[in-house]
Amino acid sequence: MSRYARRMPTESRRRVALALSGVFGRSYRVAETWDEGLSAEDAALAQALLGLCLRHWGRLHAWILPRLKNPQRGIPLGSHLALSMGLAQLAWMSGVSTHAAVHESVELAADPRLGFPPHKGLVNALLRQGAKDREALRRELEALPAALDRTPFAEEVLKAAVAAEHMEALWARLQRPPRPCFRALDDGPWPEGLVPEPALPGALRLEPGAAFPRPWLMAGQGMVQDLSSQALMSFAWNATPRRILDACAAPGGKTTALSRRWPQAELMALESDGKRAERLKQNLAVRRVKAHVEKAEAIAWLRETTSTFDLILLDAPCSGSGTLGKHPELTWLGDGLDLERLIRHQRAMIEAALPRLAPGGLLLYAVCSWLHAEGRHHWDDVRKSHPEFHSPALWPLLSDATFFRPDPLTWEGEGFQAFGLSRTEQP
Ligand SMILES: C[S@@+](CC[C@H](N)C(=O)[O-])C[C@H]1O[C@@H](n2cnc3c(N)ncnc32)[C@H](O)[C@@H]1O
Repeated sequence: MSRYARRMPTESRRRVALALSGVFGRSYRVAETWDEGLSAEDAALAQALLGLCLRHWGRLHAWILPRLKNPQRGIPLGSHLALSMGLAQLAWMSGVSTHAAVHESVELAADPRLGFPPHKGLVNALLRQGAKDREALRRELEALPAALDRTPFAEEVLKAAVAAEHMEALWARLQRPPRPCFRALDDGPWPEGLVPEPALPGALRLEPGAAFPRPWLMAGQGMVQDLSSQALMSFAWNATPRRILDACAAPGGKTTALSRRWPQAELMALESDGKRAERLKQNLAVRRVKAHVEKAEAIAWLRETTSTFDLILLDAPCSGSGTLGKHPELTWLGDGLDLERLIRHQRAMIEAALPRLAPGGLLLYAVCSWLHAEGRHHWDDVRKSHPEFHSPALWPLLSDATFFRPDPLTWEGEGFQAFGLSRTEQP
C-alpha cells in the first residue's frame, strides 16, 4: 500500500481548488507561493494533483459534460473544480484512497467559498460512477482526444517551437512535470540527493525520491534555476564590466549569476512590481549578493538616466510560452494574453536600452518563449534598424552561436530565445 493511502489533508485540496479557481475563474497565473506552508509531503501531493487537473482539464471536462442533465447549460466552476479534482485522483493517483478522492471532493463542493453546495449530490454521484472501476476510468479519459487538452495558444506555441512532425513529441514532453534544476552558490558540500547535471557544467539535479533541499536554499547556499537560464548566463564574453544593469530582475536568479561572475562590478537591479521588488531584495540579501535594487519601470528609467552600462540584461516580460511544461496553466491563459502589447513593450525596452550602452558594452535580450515574435523577429528588426550594432557569438556550443535557442526536443530546459547586441567599432 502506498504511503499516500491515507486521507489527503483538506488543506492540500483546498489550495489546489483555490489555484484552479484563480486560473479558470479569474485568469490568474498560479502564484509562486500557492503551496507555501504545506508540509513537503502535502505540497508534493498538491503539486501532482494541480498538475494533473491543468494538464487534463479539457479531457476531464469532456468526461463530465455528457453526464450532466443539461450539458448545454454546463455547471458552475465550483462543481467543475470539485469533480475534476476527484476524477483526476481516481484515475491517476492510485495512492489516494477512493474514499478520500470522493469524500473530500464532495466537501469541496459543499464549501461555499470554493464549490457550489447544491451540487454536492451530483459530485458524489458522478465520482461514485468513476470510482466503480478506477483503471477503466483512467483508460476512458486517456482514450479521449489529446487535442482536448490544448488551446489555440498551445498549438501556436508548438508550431513556433518545432516542425509539424515533432509537435506531438514536444507536447508529450511538456506533459511530464520538469525536474527542478539547481545552482550552488558557495563551495560547501551540496545537500544529499543533488548530483551534477551532465548537460551543463555547474548545474545540479535532484535525484528521484531525494528530499527537496529547502534548508540549503533558505540559507542562500544554492538556488533553483532552470537549465536554460544557466546555459544562457554562461555566455562567452571576455570583457570585465564595471557597471551592470539588470533591467527586469525579480526574482533575481540572473542578478545572482551576474554578481557571482563579476563580483567587483557595480550592479543595479530594476523591478517594476513592488511585491516582486521586495522579494528580489530578500533573495539577494540571503544570497549575500551586493546590488542596488530599485523599484522602477525600466523604459522610463532608461530614458531618464544619463548613466551608461558595460552590460545590460533585458530578461523581458513575455508570454512565458517556453515554460508550458512547468506552468501548465499557461495553456488555458495564453489565448487571453495581449501579445501585441507585450511585443511592443519588449521592443520599446530594447530601444530604450541601446543608447545606455557604454563603448564596448553588451546588451543581452532574453525571453522564456518560443514565439518568434518575442525573440527572432525583434532580433531581425533591431539589426535592420540599427546597422551600427552586431550580434557577437555568445553561445559557441549552439548551432547558431549568435542566437540562443536550445533545441526544444533534445534540451531538457525551458524554451528560451536570446541574443546580444554590441556597437560595431569603427576601423
Ligand atoms: C522574466 S522575469 C525576470 C526573471 C529574472 N531575470 C530572473 O532570472 O530571476 C521579468 C520581470 O520583469 C518585471 N517587469 C515587467 N515589466 C517591467 C518593466 N517595464 N520594468 C521593470 N521590470 C519589469 C516583471 O515583474 C518580472 O519580475
